[in-house]
Amino acid sequence: MDGLKPRIADAMHRQSQPTVTVLSTLLAVQDELGFIPKQGIEEVAAFTSSTINEVWAVASFYPNFRFEPPCLHQVEVCWGASCHLVGAMPLIEAALQASGLETEGDTSDGRLTLRYNTCLGACSQAPVMAIDHHLIGRATPESAKARIAELLAEQNG
Ligand code: FES
Repeated sequence: MDGLKPRIADAMHRQSQPTVTVLSTLLAVQDELGFIPKQGIEEVAAFTSSTINEVWAVASFYPNFRFEPPCLHQVEVCWGASCHLVGAMPLIEAALQASGLETEGDTSDGRLTLRYNTCLGACSQAPVMAIDHHLIGRATPESAKARIAELLAEQNG
């Protein structure tokens, strides 16, 4: 996984907030790669002058971190406060129904990872979802179902 090294380094160095922590660095790596590879744990430890055990303790504490690559397509539905007020739950129900999942996770064919997000950063366009990191504002259950059905029906290659 040598190709990951520069992407991990970039993500770690790109953090612009004043306080860089193990958690913020793990988040930066996951935002970049969609998961935390074993190498990522080691790099975060070196970057934050922590031990691998310390980094692993933080990474394993938060259920939002994943340690395997995500599926081909990533669908995120925001269930933060702003989105919740204007229809996040119907959107989540539609996404679950269309993907055949019972909760967030991966479809068994490896085509789609569904995740809930606490804020996709576009609250003024709530309710918001993202498909492969492309934000969709004022999403509707119907549009969510249609987009997910398209992704699942896509031909390989
Ligand atoms: S709360 Fe949904 S985008 Fe911010």
